Amino acid sequence: MSNNLLTGKKGIIFGALNEMSIAWKVAERAVEEGATITLSNTPLAVRMGTTNELAQKLNATLIPADATSVEDLTEVFRQSTEVLGGKIDFVLHSIGMSPNVRKKRTYDDLDYDMLTSTLDISAISFHKMLQTAKKLDAINQYGSVVALTYMAAQRTMFGYNDMADAKAMLESIARSFGYIYGREKDVRINTISQSPTMTTAGSGVKGFDSLVDFAERMSPLGNASADDCANYCITLFSDLTRKVTMQNLYHDGGFSSMGMSYRAMEQYLKGFDFKDENGKIIYG
Ligand SMILES: NC(=O)c1ccc[n+]([C@@H]2O[C@H](COP(=O)([O-])OP(=O)(O)OC[C@H]3O[C@@H](n4cnc5c(N)ncnc54)[C@H](O)[C@@H]3O)[C@@H](O)[C@H]2O)c1
Repeated sequence: MSNNLLTGKKGIIFGALNEMSIAWKVAERAVEEGATITLSNTPLAVRMGTTNELAQKLNATLIPADATSVEDLTEVFRQSTEVLGGKIDFVLHSIGMSPNVRKKRTYDDLDYDMLTSTLDISAISFHKMLQTAKKLDAINQYGSVVALTYMAAQRTMFGYNDMADAKAMLESIARSFGYIYGREKDVRINTISQSPTMTTAGSGVKGFDSLVDFAERMSPLGNASADDCANYCITLFSDLTRKVTMQNLYHDGGFSSMGMSYRAMEQYLKGFDFKDENGKIIYG
């Protein structure tokens, strides 16, 4: 259902890989709400994923770009303002990847080149995006930039690994850049801290199924889905939230404020810790 919240607005959505991607749902909802958009993802993702289908369906130009490359990002903003016919009103950064997670390196055995890559792809790319947009003066007054994050930035979550460090940095960039971009251009920058969601990136996290189940049992409203997240993004892109900036906004069914729920406790009582032959707890 459309409320025409984005009528006449122009946006760039980074990170739609396939139908499960949060960015995919955001792109669909943004167009439904009256926006015109461009899409961007890495050349490899464009080849391997189904972003092209989305671009066709939404009549959106797809601009391949590696978000760690300032040159590529400059092209995305340049081409987007050209095809959309003016400055941009909203941007979604929906990008995350950890080579350490992919290669199953644990947090106490990180490969540091891979850590650098995790931070560059998942956090510094956000700074590069903002700096590029600002230098090109590509975003309209009261434009809205949103990046997706996860609560492992604040609280240690099993298996989230170096992505927790990347998310902490991502959220910090939203505040630090939000101050400057707000002060000088009235552009707002926020992060949405989303529930665990079954996507390609999400399912790479060790024990992800259990995490989803635990979060579901802990959250009074249950986990927020990718569709729910898309709706929340639309409100942040819209003019209804013009004074919201530099915030990390929890979108998690209440999980972040919970200590223990009845549903989680009930499940806990049914099980016991996994122990090895010496009676030591196996942490994984
Ligand atoms: N799925 C979850 O549980 C969850 C929870 C909270 C936050 N998030 C965040 O949401 C965002 C989107 O992830 P998703 O869950 O939709 O998974 P996804 O795998 O669909 O999306 C991740 C995207 O990042 C893109 N990407 C990777 N390296 C890139 C690069 N160098 N340049 C440009 N793009 C690159 C991928 O191609 C992919 O499209 C990520 O930031 C993720 O950390 C996800």
